[in-house]
Amino acid sequence: MDNSKIKRYTVTAALPYTNGPVHIGHLAGVYLPADTYVRYLRSNKRDVKFICGSDENGVPITLKAKKEGTTPQAIVDKYHKIIGDSFKELGVSFDIYHRTSSLTHHQTASDFFETLYNKGVFTEEVTEQYYDEKAQTFLADRYITGTCPKCGNENAYGDQCENCGSTLNATDLINPKSTLSGEKPVRKETKNWFLPLDQYEDQLRTYIESHKEWRPNVYGQCQSWLNAGLQPRAMTRDLDWGIKVPIKGAEGKVLYVWFDAPIGYISATKELFEYARLGIWNPKAEEYYINQNEVENGNWEQYWKDDETKLVHFIGKDNIVFHCIIFPAMLMAHGDYTLADNVPANEFLNLEGQKISTSKNWAVWLDEYLIEFKDKQDVLRYVLTATAPETKDNDFTWKDFQARNNNELVAILGNFINRVVVLTHKYFGGKVPTCMTITPEDQQVIDDLAAYPAKISASIENYRFREALAEVMNVARLGNKYLAETGPWKVIKTDEDRVRTILNISLQIAATLEILIEPFLPFTADKLQKMLNYGGHLWEDAGKMGLLKRGHELNEPVLLFDKIEDETVQAQIDKLKKSKADNVAATATVEPAKENIQFEQFTAIDIRVATIIAAEKVEKTKKLLKLTLDTGIDQRTVVSGIAEYYKPEEIIGQQVSLVVNLAPREIKGILSQGMILMSEDSDGKLAFVSPVQNHSNGSVIR
Ligand code: MF3
Ligand code: ZN
Repeated sequence: MDNSKIKRYTVTAALPYTNGPVHIGHLAGVYLPADTYVRYLRSNKRDVKFICGSDENGVPITLKAKKEGTTPQAIVDKYHKIIGDSFKELGVSFDIYHRTSSLTHHQTASDFFETLYNKGVFTEEVTEQYYDEKAQTFLADRYITGTCPKCGNENAYGDQCENCGSTLNATDLINPKSTLSGEKPVRKETKNWFLPLDQYEDQLRTYIESHKEWRPNVYGQCQSWLNAGLQPRAMTRDLDWGIKVPIKGAEGKVLYVWFDAPIGYISATKELFEYARLGIWNPKAEEYYINQNEVENGNWEQYWKDDETKLVHFIGKDNIVFHCIIFPAMLMAHGDYTLADNVPANEFLNLEGQKISTSKNWAVWLDEYLIEFKDKQDVLRYVLTATAPETKDNDFTWKDFQARNNNELVAILGNFINRVVVLTHKYFGGKVPTCMTITPEDQQVIDDLAAYPAKISASIENYRFREALAEVMNVARLGNKYLAETGPWKVIKTDEDRVRTILNISLQIAATLEILIEPFLPFTADKLQKMLNYGGHLWEDAGKMGLLKRGHELNEPVLLFDKIEDETVQAQIDKLKKSKADNVAATATVEPAKENIQFEQFTAIDIRVATIIAAEKVEKTKKLLKLTLDTGIDQRTVVSGIAEYYKPEEIIGQQVSLVVNLAPREIKGILSQGMILMSEDSDGKLAFVSPVQNHSNGSVIR
């Protein structure tokens, strides 16, 4: 879109699912680039509304509720608060952080559906879906597990096999099982309303092809969807958590979560203007209005239905089809709305070489980071932007986090600012000295500085935030180089006027840095602003001389960043390792409990401490050992299936628990008199169960 035609911006960030907190992958992929973009626009005095909220419908929420033994409402309330609070603390400057369980959203999404329905957009189709007869409900794909037809993984989900990564249909699974009841589901007919995406194919192609400037990964994915041919997609689902389908004959059905969620952008904008202004929003909803004061003029429709509004969606790559194909088709079908001008989708961020996984707890969670790294929001913002997966997947490591903090933020940016401010205090009582004679060397620096803001603007406007941040750091490098080459701490002995000029120019660089870092590092910009006692902030000022007037008084220097020690990052690495170990333990399949027995049944079993006094392999068997035990009562022979885990010579002298009153049995021609208790883990590994201290043989276990 031609910049001169743009009157206002609507910038959205993907609504996070409220089935867990937000992690660094989400931040690097979506929320930080979006926030940087918006802060940059604001600093250019552009009219922008930054929209987000919680995605609270859909199956992931109901699954999480089931796992935690609570209700979906309790889950969304919990995570809406955690996510909303942590975004705020990280300085993600949404104009509103709304939620899709709100009344405004239910009404907006419901009206949208009704409009399309009344226009005759949907087709009705009866299809066979899996139904759980015991739980009396249709099963979303995620509620069905079975064997993957591609790789044989027995725990594949109805929509995806996490082992081999293939996308599946629930009906592809071998031996499907309902996760609700454990029963085999049956196929049952059900009616749903479909959006005939095929009918929008031409229109969508025209739309996509008019945006060749989109990132190659986004454009390419759209092309491949279009080339494969679009299929009608159900916009209603048989589920009881979500937005009720507002038409007759649709009882027990809700809107498909990918139908309602993007409408969440619209309802949040509506809420921002209509309701915040009137002050009648639902207090129970705990909305986050960050810039409430800005909604006096204008109305939500300008931000969605006007050709002079530039709409930009920030998302992760798994959301491309929904934002570039399905949502635009919905908007086209509706007719009143403008389409996104760009959808800068990022690739994925890995963590220490492995895919981030919420369910496996392989992640750095924002809420935990904010507690463990207090007042270090900008360090995370910096590292995640500097390593953002803009064009390919990227890796976050704690060592790199530490190195970037220590070698870049501390050593380059922090060091430059600190030197300039300290020297100004030392030589000129904290007052900006006058710029005297300018040398050709100074002029070069002034020219170099002046060229940066436009370069950085171009990178940001083209969604290249890594590149933009690298250029911002180059401004700090320019400053350091200038100081190193001119050496004011030496010159001061002979030529005070020369030092005046050097520090004046250096202070202008510092003031420019304040403006340039603000979209990326807002907390640091704030500190720097206080130190420079300067309230500038507009992008157009950046790069100019005279931002800080002579005689202007600075405040005392404070350190912008401090070093991060080895122990600190090691603790994080250890924490990850531990969470991995815990996770392995937690996901191990535990045998279900047996039915209750009576106390008398339990006491009927006579278990004693005994000691193995001899052991040998049973010929021609792999698993069996013939053991001689001292039971305190007698010496007897027991055959036990532990040969794969223990060598005979290792276990002589081992105390064990022995069931002494089990009827004797003949095994491989040997009379076995009793049974040794073993514990067996989910991998089938065996361990003896014996008293922690040695007890005399024959001691009773009860
Ligand atoms: N909740 C989705 C996810 O985390 C994103 C929804 S974006 C919206 O993948 F457009 F639907 F809002
Ligand atoms: Zn598979």
